[in-house]
Order: sequence, then structure tokens, then C-alpha cells
Amino acid sequence: MKGDSPEIAAEALKTGRLVMLPTETVYGLAADASNPQAVARIFEAKGRPRFNPLIAHVANAVDAETVAVFDASARALAEAFWPGPLTIVAPVRDRDQVCDLARAGLDSVAVRVPGHLKARAVIAAFGGAVVAPSANRSGRPSPTTFDDALEETGQAVGAAVDGGPCAVGVESTVVSVLDGQVALLRPGSVTREELEAVVGPLAEAAGQGHRSPGRLALHYAPDAPVRIEAEAANDGEILLGFGPGVGEARWSLSASGDLREAAANLFRLLREADRTQPKGIAVSPIPRTGLGEAINDRLKRAAGFVG
Ligand code: TXA
Ligand code: MG
Repeated sequence: MKGDSPEIAAEALKTGRLVMLPTETVYGLAADASNPQAVARIFEAKGRPRFNPLIAHVANAVDAETVAVFDASARALAEAFWPGPLTIVAPVRDRDQVCDLARAGLDSVAVRVPGHLKARAVIAAFGGAVVAPSANRSGRPSPTTFDDALEETGQAVGAAVDGGPCAVGVESTVVSVLDGQVALLRPGSVTREELEAVVGPLAEAAGQGHRSPGRLALHYAPDAPVRIEAEAANDGEILLGFGPGVGEARWSLSASGDLREAAANLFRLLREADRTQPKGIAVSPIPRTGLGEAINDRLKRAAGFVG
């Protein structure tokens, strides 16, 4: 299938159909955020539990503030990281622009301005907020190439935009900015260290208001069992290596030990390894700092540990 233009995609959104949307993090399955029927189709296509709210994608920070109420910290974060892979959860301002179903009935809303030019072109041509969860069926690894995205939920879309392979490869960092506190709900490519450089020390995410309903323990999982922090492959396992000389070159997350490269390769290699139907997928230890926090988070969930 050849990709559609942003204009065709915008027309599909306007008529309540779903769109395959490329972003810099992962491919999204997009719908008009204000249209409950369209949003319901996302939950159906993904098999996603309805208590798990979606992210509203907008074209710029001014539009974000028509959706959500931002305090000084939220503005500082938007200024520092948008357009880009940061999602801000803040009190909802307009309950119709992002419908109740999209917010799972919460009084807060998640919003982000994607860095991918084609994503912003679709949103601009559409002229409103677009909700887009990762385009995988619920519980499976997020797609980071056009073909993987079509394989997951391609049957459900009225248009599909090809944005090439996703440069970042893990989902956006999600923070909540509520009651004057900033908490990290989902580690992502904007690191804890980068956030703290802008807003100071982060609050604990344990508080009721800061919970992220979508953080199911088993998530991002391929069919084969995943074993993390492995020094070597056992019989019948594929080893996804990290660092020089670890495992086979074609299965290396990053031979040079680069976390950005590893993040960009993570979901694609999990999928490719899974396709060979191995006994299991073993993964080398990954450093825990910086972007490593997000990679380890996804790996723990793929391996079925409570996060
Ligand atoms: O990189 C990304 O963020 C991708 C691309 C397509 O933009 N999208 C994505 O969406 O990862 P999704 O639906 O797979 O993840 C959204 C996360 C979930 O963990 C959800 O629970 C959380 O954001 N979330 C959304 N609204 C929230 C809210 N009001 N309060 C707390 N968490 C919220
Ligand atoms: Mg997801």
C-alpha cells in the first residue's frame, strides 16, 4: 500500500474515519478527538480497555492551551520540548474538543505537539485535535515502521500516511502537571534529567491525581517470552545485544552502545526476532540512566514484570 497525503488523511478524519499517523516516536492510530463514534473505533480496533485515556495531538502550544489548562511549569516544559516527544497531562479546559471517551471520563487531558512534520501537516490540514494511541493492537509492541503499523491495525483505517521509520522508536515521555507538581507517569525519550533541568525535582507519581491508567504490567509483549539482563542466549533463544561484540550483528540494539540507536531499534528488533518464532528473546543489560530508563521500562513490561 502506498501512503496517502496529509490532505487525504485530514479528509478521512473529518468523516469520522481512522488514520495511520506517523510520529517521531511510534506510529499512531488517529481519530477526530471531538467525535465519540470515531474515538470508539480506536478502542475497538486496538482491543483497548476503555478506562485507558488517549493523547490529544495538536499543531502547536497555543492550540494545546485551548484543550488543557497550563500553569507556569507546563508552559516551561512545552517551550523546552515541543514540538517533540513529551506529553503533558493537565486539567481539561474544553470537554468537547477532546471528548469524554477519549479522556476516559477524567478531568485531566493528555496533550502533545508531535515533532514529525507529516504528523503536524495532518493535524494542520484537519484543523483540530487528533487523538492517537500507538497503532499496535493492545498489549503488543508499538509499530515503528509503516509496514508494521499496517500489519497491526491497517484494516481499520480510511487513510494511511507513510512517514518512514520512526526516529525515536519509544513512545513519548508522559508527565502530569497538576496542583503545581510535575510527576513522571511514563519514561520516554525526554529523560528525567532533561525534565528536572527545566522544572526542578519531580514529584512522586503515586498520588491519586498523577496515576497513569494505561500502565498495565504486561505490555509491548511479543509472542515469544522475553528474558532481560541476559549475559548470553540460551538454547533456542535470540539474543538482542547491546555494546561492542555482544551477540550477532543483525540482532544488535546498538553495537556501539548508543542508547538513542537502541531505542530506535527496540520495537522493530523485538518484532523481527518474534517472526522467527524463537524459544525466547534474551536481551543484554541496558544502562538505566537517561534514555535507558525508558528502554528498561518497555523491556520489563515486555518480559511481564509489574512496573
Ligand atoms: O509517543 C506517543 O505518545 C504515541 C504517539 C502515537 O504519539 N502515543 C501513545 O499513546 O503512546 P498511548 O495511548 O499508547 O499512550 C498514552 C498514555 C497511556 O499510558 C495513558 O494511560 C496515558 O498516556 N494518559 C492519557 N491521558 C491521561 C490522563 N488524563 N492521565 C494520566 N495518564 C494519561
Ligand atoms: Mg501504546
